[in-house]
Amino acid sequence: MSPRTPGAGAGKWSERFAGATSELMFQFNSSLSYDQRLAAHELRASIAHARMLGRQGIIPKKDAAKIVAGLRLLERLRAAGRLRLDVPEEDIHTLVEKELTRRIGAAGKKLHTARSRNDQVNAVTRLWLRDAIDAQQRLILLLRRALLRQAQAHAATVMPGYTHLQVAQPTTLGHHLHAYDCMLARDAARLADCRRRVNVLPLGAAALAGTGFAIDPRMVAKELGFDSIFANSMDAVADRDYAIEYAHCAAQLLLHLSRLGEEIVIWASQPFGFVRVADAFSTGSSIMPQKRNPDAAELLRGKAGRALGALQALMTMVKGQPLTYNKDNQEDKEALFDSAATAASCLQVAAPMVASLEFDAGRMRAAAEQGYAAATELADALVRKGVSFRSAHARVARLVRLAESRGLALAELPAAEARRATGLTAAELRAALTIDRVLAGRRSPGSPQPKQVARAAARELRRVEKLLAA
Ligand code: ARG
Repeated sequence: MSPRTPGAGAGKWSERFAGATSELMFQFNSSLSYDQRLAAHELRASIAHARMLGRQGIIPKKDAAKIVAGLRLLERLRAAGRLRLDVPEEDIHTLVEKELTRRIGAAGKKLHTARSRNDQVNAVTRLWLRDAIDAQQRLILLLRRALLRQAQAHAATVMPGYTHLQVAQPTTLGHHLHAYDCMLARDAARLADCRRRVNVLPLGAAALAGTGFAIDPRMVAKELGFDSIFANSMDAVADRDYAIEYAHCAAQLLLHLSRLGEEIVIWASQPFGFVRVADAFSTGSSIMPQKRNPDAAELLRGKAGRALGALQALMTMVKGQPLTYNKDNQEDKEALFDSAATAASCLQVAAPMVASLEFDAGRMRAAAEQGYAAATELADALVRKGVSFRSAHARVARLVRLAESRGLALAELPAAEARRATGLTAAELRAALTIDRVLAGRRSPGSPQPKQVARAAARELRRVEKLLAA
């Protein structure tokens, strides 16, 4: 029985073996079903490697040219959907080498000179991840634009701000949405930082200990757009923290989206009635004819679990692994692919869903008025008259208890009673209880003052638009 390409389906793995690989082992070992999505990047990386081999005189220039032409043909076939990927091969790297050799003959057998799948797989995965990060950055910008446009439109829309999900102090919807934009801006910055560490070429480390051939990894790095090359060949093949770091970026982003999703679910519930999610992003019930469920928002809340799972899987995969490459590392791909795909789909849906939200400003204002949100402001008014904050707190707390016992809002209490209980004049009471005046007076930085919110949203929107146009 003669061996096929090492790792191919039938027969023995290589000349090293006397017996054939068991079918069960072959299936267990093969990553082709999922790493085939690396095909385009595998071809690019192999082209760069072959050109370098030729340029350095490691293989004859004629052979290098033949290999590059063959790989370009495979690129065209792949783009046309005609590169067969449903074949019994161990992984995408083996498949490409074998398909190349089938088409161009003996020269194809020289492609794997001075490289190993250990450095190759990391190079190809990093290339793929770099593209995924760039695509994700754009999707983040699109969601930020949707959030910021809503924030701008609602810079002065009064709503209750919550702590413990209990009405706390008045804020504006614009302020609330701008808070999510701040989170997303950090997610984007985190991703950009991660990209710098992803964009380092490991090809040239070979199996783990470099190579005696006069390779030029810098040339390969330049051709593939990597910023720099590995510093240590063992680290280059063993490292998976670039994948873990990305998975963390995705998990953190999806944690933020899960909070946004939950807000929308709460706001869209009947007791709140703050927002209506458009038909396009809602679904009904198979039994209850009246239902209109904010499924898109619920899925944003739920999907975070997958990303957290992927991060956990990657960290656990690496834990305790001795240097250098171990087959455990093949398990990085499905987790990485899933976390990138989940992040992308959540961002893709979140942007138009947020843009579609229709808010009920009347109900939001009423909720702020009913919930004693002005209490802190009343206490502050007393402080301005020289009362200590603690005593002011106690006085207003008693007033709230009184109002609550009668089922009244603070502004609905008889004026004389409120004056007596607090020691504030009618004008001072009115000022503290008029939400718009309170918000306009919020001069501290990053506050819900409508002027500040409008300015912050406009500034960020300009930045986002500029990045989207670039
Ligand atoms: N498919 C493998 C992976 O994903 C490629 C590297 C295999 N290297 C090896 N020595 N078996 O990690």
